[in-house]
Amino acid sequence: MKLESPEEPAAIDPLSEELRALAERLQGALAEAGDATALEAIRVRFLGRSGEITRASRTIGSLPPAERPEAGKSINAARVEMETRIAAQAEALGARAFAADLATAIDVTFPATALAMGGLHPIRRAMEDACAYFERRGFAVVLGNEIETDYYNFDALNIPPDHPAREGLDSFYLRPGVLLRTHTSPMQVRTMRAVPPPLAIVVPGKAYRRDAIDARHSPMFHQIEGLLVAPGIHLGHLKGVLTGLFRELFGPAQAVRFRPSFFPFTEPSAEVDTTCPGCDGSGCKTCGGSGWIEIGGAGMVHPDVLRESGYDPASVTGWAFGVGIERIAMVRQDIDDIRVLFENDPRVLASLA
Ligand code: DAH
Repeated sequence: MKLESPEEPAAIDPLSEELRALAERLQGALAEAGDATALEAIRVRFLGRSGEITRASRTIGSLPPAERPEAGKSINAARVEMETRIAAQAEALGARAFAADLATAIDVTFPATALAMGGLHPIRRAMEDACAYFERRGFAVVLGNEIETDYYNFDALNIPPDHPAREGLDSFYLRPGVLLRTHTSPMQVRTMRAVPPPLAIVVPGKAYRRDAIDARHSPMFHQIEGLLVAPGIHLGHLKGVLTGLFRELFGPAQAVRFRPSFFPFTEPSAEVDTTCPGCDGSGCKTCGGSGWIEIGGAGMVHPDVLRESGYDPASVTGWAFGVGIERIAMVRQDIDDIRVLFENDPRVLASLA
């Protein structure tokens, strides 16, 4: 029997040597593996059915029977160790991928900055709200041209040739006989000429007058014109419809008041006031203490205008009104200077939205 000398180096056990080399190769391969696919390839290469560990275990058969259980144990231990390392690498790769995802991901739980929403301009809003009220009542919305003839802007509306508004001082003439319309009323005659009675229209749009700009005047402004012609129409209908309009625009407490006035194209004519929405009629700065604010003109369509339009005043009657859109917007938004509506400072408009 051969005695082992303590000085002699331990005999190199070929299986342990192979398992150590295998572990080293695995370590090297894992260091290179960049993603889950590469990792799976490594798992197959080392631990698969025909993988390297399986090949190592085949050597067991060539060992003397007494050494086989020990060899089997070390191969199993090596397999478990390799599985553990591959799993650890898989976890590390997963964590890295998650971190990279997070760096570019949108965190939907993060508090968002408020989006600056656009809104309709107060003039547009007043116009659309007024039109919507009339559309629900069966009125058609008609748009006219801003360039008009003397005839439709004045003559057909019974405005006499010597009326001051006809002079260039008050209106913008483009050439003799042609001007920027000074009101939306010309569309009364144009529509009546095109459509037989009964007729119910509103005309929202721009009008122009040679006014100096100040807190209450602008050379361009907006109106909404209304016209209803049918048999038996009277002033009471007009008052009811306008009361409803102002209640919708300003609130449920609105009342309407007619003050006798004069327009060549209506008879009788009235200026229309509504309860001041600033004080509900008790008197404040907006209404100069009267409790009322003037908002437009109205009246029964003059028989001359009906006749000029081809309607028979003996069989139909009608009312008409013209209301200032800026007036509505200013009262609704508590604006005391019309220029605010045209300067369009975004900070001011945002505060009005
Ligand atoms: N067109 C008039 C203006 O601009 C307003 C007006 C008054 C319109 C009476 C009408 C009306 O339809 O009947 O001052």
